[in-house]
Amino acid sequence: MIFDTHAHLTDEQFNEDRDEVINRIKREGMLVLNCGCDEKSSYLSAVLAKRYDFFYAALGMHPHDSKDYTDKFEKWIIEHINDERVVAIGEIGLDYHYDYSPRPVQKDVFIRQIELANELDKPIIIHSREATQDTYDIVKKYLKTKRGAVLHSFNQSEEMLKQYLDLDMNIHFSISGPVTFKNAKNMLTLVPNIPLDRIFVETDCPYLTPVPFRGRRNNPTYVTYVADKLAELYGKTTEEIAEITTQNAVKFFGINLKC
Ligand code: NI
Repeated sequence: MIFDTHAHLTDEQFNEDRDEVINRIKREGMLVLNCGCDEKSSYLSAVLAKRYDFFYAALGMHPHDSKDYTDKFEKWIIEHINDERVVAIGEIGLDYHYDYSPRPVQKDVFIRQIELANELDKPIIIHSREATQDTYDIVKKYLKTKRGAVLHSFNQSEEMLKQYLDLDMNIHFSISGPVTFKNAKNMLTLVPNIPLDRIFVETDCPYLTPVPFRGRRNNPTYVTYVADKLAELYGKTTEEIAEITTQNAVKFFGINLKC
């Protein structure tokens, strides 16, 4: 079994064949966690989680859209956070690469959703791009729930990894397709420093497609190429990495797998 802990199957790139892609996940016997980015994708994530027993959902407002965060949306999250298979607040964070929302608004909405997670006692899924220090400072200051956080598509420095681990706040690190890219040399030295009990695999589909499918639309079944690369880096088999990362994520998200 393998668990893609960060997918966007609610993205419009799946509008033509979403059911087919989801059925393929089912046939492969995988688990998938779909992250909300805005109102619409959060809502659709919750709907799909209700429909499929291998489909988990996170609800939240991505930094790109943080200018659209409202009291009404927050109230909706509170109403649905304990729905079956809704397991986290995400994805939330800071993105200073695109700056689609003003930075002060991004920070406010990030903090507000962390406080929501504290209150609801749920883990958070963090997106951080070109905002390394601000992300760290906010997590350190505001994250109170012991449920912790996962830094998705983690590609920061070994120093930042160490600083996050030193916080002792149940921080996890999720690795995506770029670890398979030829130009991702920093990932090859970074990844083996991540403790094996703190690592997840993800696709971030439809984005970040791993080699050998780079350039095409990504989908959750390609998460095995990420696991292959981790197997190489940790000196394990792909099956062992799949097992370890799945168990880590199941535990972190508080998932009760019926055997
Ligand atoms: Ni994402």
